[in-house]
Amino acid sequence: MIFSGDNSLWQVLFVSSRGCSKPRHALRFMDAAHTVCAVQVLLLLFAGLSAPGELMANSKLVEQGRYLFQAAGCLSCHRDDRTLAGGRPLVTPFGTFYPPNITPHRESGIGRWSEEDLVRALRMGLDPAGRHYYPAFPYPSYTRMTQRDMHALYAYLMTWPESSRPSRPHAISWPFSSRSLISHWKQGRFTPGAAVVNPERSTQWNRGAYLATALGHCTECHTPRGFLGTPDNTRFMAGTCSGPEELRVPNITSDDDTGIGRWSFEELETFLATGERPDGCYTSGLMMEVLGTSCMGLTDNDRRALAVYLASLPPIHHNLDYLCATFEDDEFLE
Ligand code: HEC
Ligand code: HEC
Repeated sequence: MIFSGDNSLWQVLFVSSRGCSKPRHALRFMDAAHTVCAVQVLLLLFAGLSAPGELMANSKLVEQGRYLFQAAGCLSCHRDDRTLAGGRPLVTPFGTFYPPNITPHRESGIGRWSEEDLVRALRMGLDPAGRHYYPAFPYPSYTRMTQRDMHALYAYLMTWPESSRPSRPHAISWPFSSRSLISHWKQGRFTPGAAVVNPERSTQWNRGAYLATALGHCTECHTPRGFLGTPDNTRFMAGTCSGPEELRVPNITSDDDTGIGRWSFEELETFLATGERPDGCYTSGLMMEVLGTSCMGLTDNDRRALAVYLASLPPIHHNLDYLCATFEDDEFLE
């Protein structure tokens, strides 16, 4: 199995050492991806000794799952060095979330979960006991995944090496610490259900929309949020002053002045493949991680579809230079 993002990633690491900004974290993800692939190959070889036909079908499904897992950026939150034993802290105005252990360990991870449990988590934002998940777990995007993709994702997740490391409890302040509040949040703000094809658009556009909004969770960072972190879809992808880790996240609508409307289609494709902006500088931090963990590993066709969808976003004038300087603290209050 070859991690198709390899070459472009090396290129970026090499080129960026001369450029404007350095992608720092991406390499560790690649190591993890390789290790897991090697383990899977072994597992599948052993599993398949008795049933070669099943092996072929299974390895295809697991490979599909691996691709989706990568496209959906699961690793970027759930990684812990080389395992999925609970990831990086997600600092928000409500407190800090610690993504849990999602290895197939029966006690500490999701080893007891059935496929239906995973589907319920991704589709409905509910745990196997029916409790609500915080939307810090991007199920408001993942709910749009197709059943088939969730099926492949489950097959893949179950091939990860187990880790017994217990998940860390979130450090959320009251009243947000109460999960019952999430059910109020969900009402009217969260619409469960797989993505529906827009018949007025091309297959390529629909694929791009799926990659960006169901798997890519681009909106989770690029759309500003209001009360309790609700995405403000009147400013869809128009950027925010208070993104994750209190970072400013740029406007990526096609607005000429405040978005990326002046980028050519080729420039957008290059960005998604390498992180190089039209000005020759490389994107940094979180976005480089998104590219390294998901976009760079997409097939050329998928990356192009993503670019087609992004280029079609209606322009929204949202001037962050102005907003971030003046209303910095008001962004979350709606
Ligand atoms: C932006 C960060 C982020 C990304 C990306 C992310 N997760 Fe999570 N995930 C979380 C957080 C935070 C929680 C805990 C939510 C809670 O406690 O309410 C979580 C919870 C989970 C759970 C529930 C585990 C349990 O023990 O209850 C599963 C399963 C899961 N994630 C799988 C995935 C998969 C599969 C992907 C990719 C398709 C993914 N996550 C992507 C942050 C993330
Ligand atoms: C974890 C948060 C996060 C996610 C998820 C995310 N981005 Fe970004 N994005 C950022 C940040 C932060 C920057 C600014 C980086 C910088 O200043 O170098 C950025 C920059 C960009 C830019 C460059 C804009 C400019 O003006 O330089 C584009 C294009 C972009 N993102 C597209 C996407 C797409 C497409 C997706 C989904 C596949 C996505 N982003 C997902 C945080 C995110």
